[in-house]
Amino acid sequence: MSGARKRVAILVSGRGSNMAALIDAAAESDYPAEIVAVISNRPGAGALDIASRAGVPTTVIDHKAFGSREAFDAALDAELTRIAPDVVCFAGFMRLLTPGFIDRWEGRMLNIHPALLPSFKGLDTHARALAAGVRLHGCTVHLVTAEMDAGPIVAQAAVPVLDDDDEDALSARVLAAEHRLYPRALAMWARGEARLEDGRVRVAEEPEPSSPLVWP
Ligand code: GAR
Repeated sequence: MSGARKRVAILVSGRGSNMAALIDAAAESDYPAEIVAVISNRPGAGALDIASRAGVPTTVIDHKAFGSREAFDAALDAELTRIAPDVVCFAGFMRLLTPGFIDRWEGRMLNIHPALLPSFKGLDTHARALAAGVRLHGCTVHLVTAEMDAGPIVAQAAVPVLDDDDEDALSARVLAAEHRLYPRALAMWARGEARLEDGRVRVAEEPEPSSPLVWP
């Protein structure tokens, strides 16, 4: 993916801090993507107010108004088809999608997950990381595939887990890392500096191998 600014639609369900980080990044003139739409499956999502204030068009597709997953996904597909984004960013979008929907959009969907995948897929990642006693935790931007939280990994950020951490402290540290990672990963994807090859993401330029992140 390269050339003109890529059109990005963001899917949200909640407070929208990752969405806000993407909108802020895309406000820079040299950012390679523009945020053209925000879609929420929850009418009350805080993300909707933030997007409106930033001048980004919003749509609500309330999953409760649909009798089946297929019907909701068909409505989402129709709205995305209308918007015609190059990339769909999931940002705290808490819905599992049907294989038919995934088939149509696969290769164009990115998600941010609050753990270093493949560890801690699913929910309550911070509590489970604390319970497991890991010393490093973090977040992952990956392509969305039919298997939950298992798509090719684009980028990851690691944070230390401190002895006195509780879930709130750890999730705040990871969230700050998410806000740095997602705009960076989307920019790499939009510029074609990260791309899919044989089921793995390859990056155009690898950094100098540097010292490992050691904690403690
Ligand atoms: C973020 O931590 C995101 O990684 C997580 O939900 C939070 C949404 O916060 N996503 C998932 O757990 C996806 N399964 P936000 O609405 O403030 O971006």
